[in-house]
Amino acid sequence: MSAPKSELYREILRSADALTAGETDGVANMANVAALLWEYLADVNWTGFYRIVDGELVLGPFQGKAACIRIALGDGVCGTAAASGQTQLVDDVHAFPGHIACDAKSVSELVVPVIRNGEVIAVIDLDSPTLARFDSYDTAGIEALAALLANRI
Ligand code: SME
Repeated sequence: MSAPKSELYREILRSADALTAGETDGVANMANVAALLWEYLADVNWTGFYRIVDGELVLGPFQGKAACIRIALGDGVCGTAAASGQTQLVDDVHAFPGHIACDAKSVSELVVPVIRNGEVIAVIDLDSPTLARFDSYDTAGIEALAALLANRI
């Protein structure tokens, strides 16, 4: 039987902390965390980062299929999270206005902004082929991860 989700996220946070502590290279840290999420989370088809570069989102380290490289702030689920600074928990991306389909298999999505000194610097994006795959535990877990990474990416 798999561990409860809260325990799973405690484990993810412990591992992410250990992997990124003391490492100043943000790309390396994002790459390892994308791999960690891919390894630990069941039923996901994309885990990774978009960073804000010159006022738009640009693809960062990830696991999964090759994805859209640039997303304007306010566009799609990622652009909405980045523009609003608010987590986007989407049960069915087909019902989300402006959703950007990078992988046709994606059905549900969780996007959490990474905020440093009050500014969104990146988003963490998780996609799943299953309807309503993500819940409040995933949201709380990934928001805690975003807080941990704010000064490490
Ligand atoms: N579906 C996202 C685009 C990024 S990919 O899922 C990796 C969106 O609507 O923002």
